Amino acid sequence: MKKYLLLFFAFSSLFAQKKTIDQRVDSVLALMNLDEKVGQLVQYTGGFDTGTRTASPKQGQIELIRSGKLGSLLNIFGAQQTRKVQKIAVEESRLKIPMLFGLDVIHGFRTTFPVPIAEASSWDPKLVEKSARMQAIEASSAGIHWTFNPMVDIARDPRWGRIVEGSGEDPFLGSVMAASRVKGYQGDDLAAANSIAACAKHFAAYGAAEGGRDYNTVELTERTLREVYLRPFKSALDAGAATFMVSFNEIGGVPSSANPFLLKKILRDEWKFDGFVVSDWNSIGELVPHGIAKDLKEAARLGINTGVDIDMEANAYHRHLADLVNENKVSIRDLDESVRRVLKIKFRLGLFDDPYKYCSADREKKTIRNEEMIKATREAAKRSAVLLKNENHLLPLKKDLKRIAVIGPLANSKVDPLGPWNQQGDSADVVTVVEGIKNKINGKAEIIYSKGCTIDGKSKNGFNDAVAAAEKSEIVILCLGESLTMSGEARSRASLDLPGVQNELAELLQKTGKPIIAVLMNGRPLTINYLAENIPAILETWFLGNESGNAIADILFGDYNPSGKLPVTFPKSVGQVPLYYNHKNTGRPNNPAHQMYTTSYTDFTNAPLYPFGFGLSYTTFEYSNLSLSKNKISKEESIIASIDVKNTGDLEGEEIVQLYIRDLVGSVTRPVKELKDFKKIYLKPGELKHLEFVISPDKLKFYDINMNFTVEPGDFKLFIGTNSVDLKEAAFSVLE
Ligand code: BGC
Repeated sequence: MKKYLLLFFAFSSLFAQKKTIDQRVDSVLALMNLDEKVGQLVQYTGGFDTGTRTASPKQGQIELIRSGKLGSLLNIFGAQQTRKVQKIAVEESRLKIPMLFGLDVIHGFRTTFPVPIAEASSWDPKLVEKSARMQAIEASSAGIHWTFNPMVDIARDPRWGRIVEGSGEDPFLGSVMAASRVKGYQGDDLAAANSIAACAKHFAAYGAAEGGRDYNTVELTERTLREVYLRPFKSALDAGAATFMVSFNEIGGVPSSANPFLLKKILRDEWKFDGFVVSDWNSIGELVPHGIAKDLKEAARLGINTGVDIDMEANAYHRHLADLVNENKVSIRDLDESVRRVLKIKFRLGLFDDPYKYCSADREKKTIRNEEMIKATREAAKRSAVLLKNENHLLPLKKDLKRIAVIGPLANSKVDPLGPWNQQGDSADVVTVVEGIKNKINGKAEIIYSKGCTIDGKSKNGFNDAVAAAEKSEIVILCLGESLTMSGEARSRASLDLPGVQNELAELLQKTGKPIIAVLMNGRPLTINYLAENIPAILETWFLGNESGNAIADILFGDYNPSGKLPVTFPKSVGQVPLYYNHKNTGRPNNPAHQMYTTSYTDFTNAPLYPFGFGLSYTTFEYSNLSLSKNKISKEESIIASIDVKNTGDLEGEEIVQLYIRDLVGSVTRPVKELKDFKKIYLKPGELKHLEFVISPDKLKFYDINMNFTVEPGDFKLFIGTNSVDLKEAAFSVLE
C-alpha cells in the first residue's frame, strides 16, 4: 500500500499543475479511511508554557497526528515548532496530509497593533487592510496558516466585553472593516507564503447577548439579524473569507452550532459559501448544557449534520463521528463534504505543495518586530485615536513646556496598552505614555510621573503625590481607563464607569486648576460624564498596542492631527444601554421638551454622551452646498449627492465625511438614519474639496414586510456631515 501511496503522490504532484484543486481534493479523499476523514475535522489546542512562552502539542496529540486522526491544531506557533509537528504529519502519517495551524491573531502576533475597535475608529479601510496584512506577514513567518479573525460581530451593548474585538455598532462601517481585514490577512493570493486564511466570526449575532453578558441568549427577528448582524459576515464572505466560525449563543432557541437556518439556509444555500466552518471552542459540547443534545454524541450528530465542519476542542467528532457514520446517523456524503471543504483550504493555502512554506526560522527572525512592523503599528495607532474634547485649543501642546505631569494608573503601564487578545505581545515592547512623552520632549522638559491610584483598587494613598506632581507642573496628562483584562471574552461589566477611584483622582486634580488632558485607555465606551463636563481635553485611545505612547505623544504635541471618529455610541448611563444611533423612531418619538408619554426615561435623558461618528480635529471643517443630481428617481436609478468640505482652521487635517439616509415611510418601520457611505479626506488649511457620493439602489434596499430585499417607492432624507448628529439635509423621492 505504502508503495502505491508514494506513487500516487509522485504522480499527483507531477500533474498537480494541470489538475484543479477540486480534482486534487477528490483524489486525496478517495484514499482516506473513515478515521482519517474524521481526523481532518478535529482540532485541538496545543499546550502553552507560560514560563518559556512557547507552545507544544499536548500528550497524545503527536500520536493522533501520526495516525491521521488530527487535522489541525490551534495555539501552536513558531517556525521550528510548527515544522516539527508538520514533519510528523507529512512524513509519518499514512496519507501525509499537512496540518493546519490556527491562532487568534486578532490585532497582531508579536507586534501588537491597536485593538480592532480602535482601528475601526480610523474609518480608514486601507489602513486597516495594511494592518491585517502586516499581522499576516508576521504570523505566517511564525508558522501560522489561519487566523480566527476578523471578529465582525456588531455590538450595540458596551457592557459586552467583546465589543473591543469588533468594529462597533454599525453594519455599514462593520462591513467595510470586515472586508479590509479579510483582504489584508489573505492578501492577493491565499497560496502566498505570507497569506493566512481569515475566519469571519462569530456566526451569528453573538454581540446581541441579552444584558451584554457574554455567552448569553439572543432573541432577534430575522429582519434585524439580516439587516444588522449578518451584513459584515456577508461582506467578509464577498471579500473572500476562507472560513467561518460559529458563535456560542443561541438565537431564539437554536444555538449556532446546530442552527440550520444560519448554517444551511443562509451560509450555504443563499450565500454559496464554499469554505469550511469551525465550531467555537467546545461550542459543540455546549449543545448539551444549552439543552438541545442529551449527550456529546448527539451534539456531534447535530453539529456535523448542520454543517459545522471542524470541531474545536469539544472532542465530540473524535469520539463519536465514526460511530455515527457507521450507525447511519451521519451520511458519508455529508462527512465527505466537510472533509472536502477542509482539504480544499489546505490546498488553497498551498500546503500540499509545500507544507513547510510557513516554517522558515530565518524568515521568522527577519520578520518578527522588524522596523516595518513597528512603523506600521505606530501609524495605525496615531490614526485610531479619537479626540473627544478640546476646549480653547488646549491641544496640541507646545513643545516648549518646562514641566509636564503625567499622572494615572495607565500613564506608565507596560501591559495594558497591549489590550485584550494580544497574542505574543510582550510588555517589554510597549512604549508607555510617560516614555512616549519623554521620547518626544527629548530632555527639554521635566516629566513628573505619578501613578495616583491603581486601575480598580480602593486606595487613595497615591492621591497626595499626584496632586503634588500636578501642582509642580504647567500641564497634566491624566491617563485613565480600564485594564486589558476588563474587556475581551468573558469580561462583561455591569458598570460603564471608570473603575476604582480614578474618577475621584480626576476630581481632585481638577481642583488644582491646572489644565488637564485626559488620555483614555479602555476596551468599551465608558460613562465618563465627569470628564466630559469638567476636563478640558479628552483623547480616546482605546488600546493602541506597542507604539501606544509614541503615537499618543505624536497627537498631544501636534505632530499628528487626530482624525478618528467613534464607531460606537458613548452613553451617559449604563441604564440607557442599548443606545445606538440607527434606532427606530417609535410611535412616540422622544421629545426632550416633553418627556412624558414619549419614549424616554422619567429620570434621565436619551441623549448619548458622544454620538456615533463623533470625533474632533485640531482644525475645523465647514460643510456647504449639499446638492442632489435629481430629486426624483425610479427604483433602478442612482442619485449623486455632492457637498463641499473646507478646512477652515490653521492646520492640515483629515475629515471623515459621513452620509446617512432615512426612508420616511415603508411597509415596515425604518431607522431614523443609517450610515450608507463615508469618505476620509485630507485638506490643507483653507483647502476646499468637492465630494460626490453615488446613491445606488442597493443603498436604499431593505427587507420589506414580505422579507423581500427591495427599494420601496416613497420619500427619503439624505444627510451628510461630520458625525451622526451634526448633518446637512436634503430630500428625494423614489417614484412608483
Ligand atoms: C473564542 C474565539 C476564539 C477561540 C480560540 C473562543 O473562546 O470565543 O473567538 O477564536 O476561543 O481561541
